[in-house]
Amino acid sequence: MILQGAMAAASLLIDADPGKFSDDSVAIVMCLRSPAKVSVRGVTIVSGNVWAQDGFRYVRDTFSAVGKWPLVHLGAQRPLVHTPEMSKKQGPLEFAGAFAEPEPERQRETAGDFLMNELERRPATVLAIGPLTNIARILEMRPALAQRIERLVIMGGAVDVAGNVTKSAEFNFWFDPEAARAVFRSPVKKLLVPLDVCNQAVVTRRHFDEIAAEDTPVTRLYRESFGNTYPGFLTKPDARTFLWDELAAALVIDPSIATRIETRKLDVETEFGPRYGAVKPGESPVDVVLGADTGRAWAMLRRLLTVGR
Ligand code: RIB
Ligand code: CA
Repeated sequence: MILQGAMAAASLLIDADPGKFSDDSVAIVMCLRSPAKVSVRGVTIVSGNVWAQDGFRYVRDTFSAVGKWPLVHLGAQRPLVHTPEMSKKQGPLEFAGAFAEPEPERQRETAGDFLMNELERRPATVLAIGPLTNIARILEMRPALAQRIERLVIMGGAVDVAGNVTKSAEFNFWFDPEAARAVFRSPVKKLLVPLDVCNQAVVTRRHFDEIAAEDTPVTRLYRESFGNTYPGFLTKPDARTFLWDELAAALVIDPSIATRIETRKLDVETEFGPRYGAVKPGESPVDVVLGADTGRAWAMLRRLLTVGR
C-alpha cells in the first residue's frame, strides 16, 4: 500500500499587533515552529497593542530569537475611524494600547499590496490576532479576495461574556470596530476565537515558570515581557492572564483542540458610545469557538516555546 503523504502544511498569513514580546509574538513563534502543520507565508503588522511602526520593529526581534525570518510588511498605522482623541472620551481605560502612546512618524505601508498579491497568487488561511484594519481594507479594495481566504481565524470579540477593554468590548474589536464590522459583513469564512473561550485558558505564575525556567533566546524574551511588563509575574506572583492569540494559533495548528463551535449571526457595534466595538446579534454567520481543550493548548505552547536553541 502506498503510504498516504503527510497532510500538506496549511498555507498561512498572520496579521498581528505584536508588542515587545506579547501574546502575538508567542502565537507567531508557535506557528513558525510548526512547519509540518503551517507554512507561514508572511506576517503583516497592524496598530493595536502598539503602533504598527513599533510592532514592525519588535517582531523582528522575535524572528531573530527563533532564527526564522518570514516576509513581514508594515500595515495600517491607524484604525479606520477610531482615534486617540475618541479613546480618551471613553473614560479612564486600564489599557488603551497604542492610543496611550505618542504616535510615531508615519511610514509607507506595504502590507495591503502584499496580502492582495499573496492571496491572488495562492489561497491561504489568515490568522488575524490584532485589530482587523488590514483585513477590512483589502476586502473593501478587492471583495473577491473573500473567496481566496480559505478561513479567517480571528482572535477577538466577546459574544456572551464581558469585554476586556470596556465592559462591552474586547480590545481588538474596540480598537477598530468599523473594521471588525466590515469583516463580519463580508462573505469570508470566519472562525472567531472570542474571550468566551479565551477566558477558559487561564495563565498563572505556575504556567509562566514552566517557560521562564528554560534559558533560550525565546524564553528569555518571554520571561522579560511576561515577567516584568504584562502581566508582570515576577513582581506580581498572583497575576493572571489568558491565552488569547496563543489559543487562536493553537487552533490553527491543531483544530481538534476546539471542543465546541457554534454558528451565530453576529454584527459589531460602531455607534460611538459605551458599546463601541461590542459584538451584537446581526445577520452575518460566524463560527464561534466556545470551548477548547485548554490543557492541550498550553502543552503545545510550552513545547513550542521551550524547544530549540
Ligand atoms: O483581547 C486580546 C487581544 O488584544 C489580543 O490580540 C492581544 O494581543 C490584544 O491585541
Ligand atoms: Ca494581538
